[in-house]
Amino acid sequence: MNKISVIGAGNVGATCANVIAQKDLANEVVLLDIKEGLAEGKALDIWQSSSINHFDTRVVGSTNDYEKTKGSGIIVITSGIPRKPGMSRDDLIKTNANIVKEVTEKAIKFSPDAIIIVVSNPLDVMTYAAYQAANIDANKVFGMAGILDTGRFKAFLASELDVSPSDINAMLMGGHGDTMVPLPRYTTVSGIPVTELLAEDVIERIVERTRKGGGELVGLMGTSAWYAPGAAVAEMVEAIVDNQRRILPVCAFLDGEYEQENLYLGVPVKLGTNGVEEIIEIKLNNEENELLQTSAESVKKVMKVLDDMKLFGE
Ligand code: NAI
Ligand code: 2OP
Repeated sequence: MNKISVIGAGNVGATCANVIAQKDLANEVVLLDIKEGLAEGKALDIWQSSSINHFDTRVVGSTNDYEKTKGSGIIVITSGIPRKPGMSRDDLIKTNANIVKEVTEKAIKFSPDAIIIVVSNPLDVMTYAAYQAANIDANKVFGMAGILDTGRFKAFLASELDVSPSDINAMLMGGHGDTMVPLPRYTTVSGIPVTELLAEDVIERIVERTRKGGGELVGLMGTSAWYAPGAAVAEMVEAIVDNQRRILPVCAFLDGEYEQENLYLGVPVKLGTNGVEEIIEIKLNNEENELLQTSAESVKKVMKVLDDMKLFGE
């Protein structure tokens, strides 16, 4: 991949650019922000670590000059406000919908063939907003949340079991909010079902902590997380750039899958060079499916707020 652009050089955007550069996933990473000098400064700082961290990816910054993003293969959207203590991700919609619409329209004009990865919250609805603003195929517009949320789930399980997080495989579905649906039945430790290794009440406690994982960090730091979110985006970028065809939880456009239509929601997908190559429909039991449908309903309530903003005409 020649060029990857990250729109929004805040905590998540800069971290994600840094991980992409350290993994040498592109010839060039362009970091863009509206705050004068911020993107240029962070890009320069990352580039000055190249000889120390041994990478060749050029990292350049831009204050709102989209010309510099021209010809990007991937556009990552991390612009928008993060939540403060007491706020839910949904409280961000009025501000962030306008930002996501604006930056998507500007970025896609210069890179009409790009794949778009959305990070801004409320994630599922902002991904839909970017899809509408970009007006490209749905398989090329998707959101990052499930990799972060399963990352949290795996970290908590690894601590509880005192094992390597790398040996844990997990799936999680639904919206990126407190209704998300971690799936212990589809979670293994080197192939061993986690349900055989931990008691039900311990798993339930970890599931609950995962659902509130973002809020736990907001409570500690006064703003939302960035290290794991940035690394999670880079994992998606790597799957696309190297056509890895990874099976990952991704916020993808549903067109009848999982009883949902015209909705972006977290589901397992195959991720490769064309973006979402396939949505994997796993068998859910009644309880899991009910939780998923409840999560879909809560995303639809936020979708209604977006619709009522009438940003995209009829
Ligand atoms: P931040 O405040 O550190 O960075 C946001 C950046 O966006 C700022 O530098 C700001 O100047 C920039 N920005 C605002 N309007 C812009 C515009 N029109 N054009 C270009 N840049 C613009 O926030 P942070 O922590 O990086 O979070 C960014 C977003 O990502 C938030 O909405 C947050 O809720 C979300 N997030 C989502 C996660 C997920 O799992 N999907 C995980 C973590 C954060
Ligand atoms: C998180 O889960 C804020 O969505 C972000 O950390």
